[in-house]
Amino acid sequence: MGDLTHHLADFHHAYLRDELPRIEDFLSQLGARHVNRHPQLRSLREIFAAFRDELTRSMIQEEEVLFPLIRGLESSEASVSLRRGLDSSRQLLPQHGNTAKILARMRALSEGFTAPEDADVEYHVLYGSLALLGNEIRRLLHEEDGMLFPRAISAATTRLEDTRWRRFGRWISPS
Ligand SMILES: [Fe+2]
Repeated sequence: MGDLTHHLADFHHAYLRDELPRIEDFLSQLGARHVNRHPQLRSLREIFAAFRDELTRSMIQEEEVLFPLIRGLESSEASVSLRRGLDSSRQLLPQHGNTAKILARMRALSEGFTAPEDADVEYHVLYGSLALLGNEIRRLLHEEDGMLFPRAISAATTRLEDTRWRRFGRWISPS
């Protein structure tokens, strides 16, 4: 699990930190030029800002709190930390559900990131970037929600049970 947290932060999160502001700037510039003919660009820009905020908040929480706790699951850590890690994992899951919903709204608004017939080259490049970002987010959510968090919750639950078992063991021991 430790390797996976480093991979998520160093590869997926690093990609998002470069790509989110780049796409947002691009969306603002393109929106300013084409919003009269393509009003959906304004809505897309607003939704994208919420998407960026959500992802940025989630990445900070994961890198500063959750990932270190998950790495701690593989070493000997106090049960209080393990419990916090478990709770954090559970709290993060609905946020990712929201990320997927916002992505679906952007996809619907842009008809699957298909540029209109009269779109210029930059419009096509923007939608191409959004489509790639969507694929990247799907991979990220699969690795976090589908792999890392269930493993962390399972490991934390086991460790908590171990701790209780050890306490129980001490309680019944004759010494
Ligand atoms: Fe995440």
